Amino acid sequence: MIRGSVSVSPTETSPSKALHSILSFCLWAALTLTAIGIAATPLPAKQCPTGVCSALTFFPRKTRTTRTEVAPIGPLNTNAQRLARGLAPKPPVRRSPTSTISKRQQPSQVPSPFTSYRGIISLRSEGSDTPYYIDKTSYHSGHIFVNTSISEALVVSFTSPSSELSARTSRSFLVGAQLLMENWSYGGEFPLLGLVQGGNNTDSDIGSGSPEYLTLGGIASPGTPKDSIPVYANNSYTFVTGQNRTSESAVWNADLNTGLLTPQWTNTSRTQPTTYLFTRDSILYAGGDLEAFTANLTFGIEAEGSQEKVVPLLAYFVPI
Ligand SMILES: *[C@@H]1O[C@H](CO)[C@@H](O)[C@H](O)[C@H]1NC(C)=O
Ligand SMILES: *[C@@H]1O[C@H](CO)[C@@H](O)[C@H](O)[C@H]1NC(C)=O
Ligand SMILES: *[C@@H]1O[C@H](CO)[C@@H](O)[C@H](O)[C@H]1NC(C)=O
Ligand SMILES: *[C@@H]1O[C@H](CO)[C@@H](O)[C@H](O)[C@H]1NC(C)=O
Ligand SMILES: *[C@@H]1O[C@H](CO)[C@@H](O)[C@H](O)[C@H]1NC(C)=O
Ligand SMILES: *[C@@H]1O[C@H](CO)[C@@H](O)[C@H](O)[C@H]1NC(C)=O
Ligand SMILES: *[C@@H]1O[C@H](CO)[C@@H](O)[C@H](O)[C@H]1NC(C)=O
Repeated sequence: MIRGSVSVSPTETSPSKALHSILSFCLWAALTLTAIGIAATPLPAKQCPTGVCSALTFFPRKTRTTRTEVAPIGPLNTNAQRLARGLAPKPPVRRSPTSTISKRQQPSQVPSPFTSYRGIISLRSEGSDTPYYIDKTSYHSGHIFVNTSISEALVVSFTSPSSELSARTSRSFLVGAQLLMENWSYGGEFPLLGLVQGGNNTDSDIGSGSPEYLTLGGIASPGTPKDSIPVYANNSYTFVTGQNRTSESAVWNADLNTGLLTPQWTNTSRTQPTTYLFTRDSILYAGGDLEAFTANLTFGIEAEGSQEKVVPLLAYFVPI
């Protein structure tokens, strides 16, 4: 059987060992940077030479001391301009028209219970200035596709209880949000952007060391609650392929300062493995171990420019 990574000769350092240590470093770096609090300026790091873990280093980093930022030419007024430059989007805009109205009627009381966000999702990979967007069209199998054309970008929205936001001033972080897809091709029946058990999986669990994966898809309303274990909720993949697959929809963690959106799958045991987004052949997937997933694929992975290449992605919400 031909494996994807045959180009490394057996006399060299064990590729899986090297990959493992690189992945460990990246995971450590990502967790550390997340823990210490991060500025919104992403800088591709150089520590990660392989494509497998590279998106992890794309996390925004602190830019305090030695690094001098090149001042952008002209003001970065709009997110479209920021995107064009490959920068992270501005923080989401609070849209609460009802709070203005209720303020007039009942001064200093009853703020709007929800803040709404509406925008597109920019998917960024290391070493590329061109983001992908989630395509509003599903070309086959009820999968979610990525496309570099912004005119194809799907519009999504979500809400957040205002009370949660005001309770955390400096770093607003929303856990377990549902993302509503406004104009996806199967959005009429399956409006919630969620995670679906991979078609090749033998069970519904992902995690370190496992090649099992998830496909992004649409889940029927009302979806699954936050922290739900995998359930047979009706979804676009099952509808189109006829394969009965589990899914979860309230899986999105949103950093409302940076716009970073991260999916969180819950295993059948209720544990929550770190969940990584990636694309392969323009289809959007998630998984718990991209090295194990890549190693399980049988062809074409390492070929430069191959459509089959696994490209890790970070998702950013961009308000419109
Ligand atoms: C991206 O969208 C265009 C339509 O604007 C479509 O022709 C093209 O096939 C899409 N690309 C991919 C990779 O799906
Ligand atoms: C998506 O739908 C919204 C309205 O829900 C519309 O404003 C926008 O133009 C649509 N985008 C595309 C690409 O169809
Ligand atoms: C899933 O949704 C589709 C489209 O709405 C519907 O036709 C089908 O009967 C549903 N399947 C189940 C098992 O509910
Ligand atoms: C699923 O399995 C088929 C057949 O082995 C393979 O061609 C395909 O690439 C696999 N898909 C994924 C996402 O692993
Ligand atoms: C792993 O690879 C084998 C052989 O191609 C395939 O049958 C199986 O479905 C794959 N597993 C996953 C989770 O993709
Ligand atoms: C899918 O499989 C589960 C578990 O076997 C079962 O409970 C459910 O009825 C199945 N759904 C469909 C639509 O076949
Ligand atoms: C996910 O599920 C598998 C199988 O039940 C388990 O081994 C693993 O530890 C789980 N959790 C995480 C966080 O990976």
